[in-house]
Amino acid sequence: MTSATNDRPKITVPDLARMKALEERITMITAYDATFGRLVDLAGVDMILVGDSVGMVVQGEANTITVELDEMAYHVRLVARAQPKALIVGDLPFGSYQVSPQQAVESSIRLMKEGAECVKLEGGVVMAETIQAITRVDIPVMGHIGLTPQSVHRMGGHKVQGKKSGWEAGGRERLLDDAHAVEQAGAIAVVVEGVPRDLAKEITNKLSIPTIGIGAGPDCDGQVLVLHDVVGLSERDLKFTKHFADLRTAAITATEAFIAEVRDGSWPDDAHSFH
Ligand code: KIV
Repeated sequence: MTSATNDRPKITVPDLARMKALEERITMITAYDATFGRLVDLAGVDMILVGDSVGMVVQGEANTITVELDEMAYHVRLVARAQPKALIVGDLPFGSYQVSPQQAVESSIRLMKEGAECVKLEGGVVMAETIQAITRVDIPVMGHIGLTPQSVHRMGGHKVQGKKSGWEAGGRERLLDDAHAVEQAGAIAVVVEGVPRDLAKEITNKLSIPTIGIGAGPDCDGQVLVLHDVVGLSERDLKFTKHFADLRTAAITATEAFIAEVRDGSWPDDAHSFH
């Protein structure tokens, strides 16, 4: 049993800058509903990302492209009901912000009304104007560069970026430009996903906003992982993830025990019956 309680202070946007300045490592994990929103909050995580990874780990899709804004709004609402002390970051799904800065502002407002305290979007240089537009109406934005899952088809799969030198999308120099563009546009932090460790370190050293790494090595200001990977609910075992528990086996074992007890007549027993 954990002794975790929820009496810590609320994490706010300015706390992230303070944590970077003090070199305190920042933690973020995904959650998609009130139950797990509450559990990861009790564990003391700094930020909960209601990620569009919901498409893959909850909806069973092969990528995140199909996720709709209505679905993200629903999952943000569920997590917000947990009233976490962690900062709630709502992911803008594919198609909800790329059309125009105005569309991005409207989609961001939608997620904020559901309980998000910050929104996240993918893209660097090409998204700078959009990030500016969202921050102009006082909605905090988190950037996301490197392996951006919504670009899966351009990348030819979920592939590590920044390995090759170059200014084209995914090139090393371009990623440094992307990082600067996101910072200058006013983002409060940036997720750096699927890039070589030394590049993530260089980006982290050059930016004044926190970098939150996933598959980017240990030198970022913080780390994010997908909930289903952390607790071992997913079957995927990727190089950059770790199963810190094995809830998959626990869930199967518990269900097997339920089935066996129903079949042999030992469940429910008298102690669990009403009289
Ligand atoms: O949607 C998500 O879970 C994410 C993380 C992988 C950073 O964007």
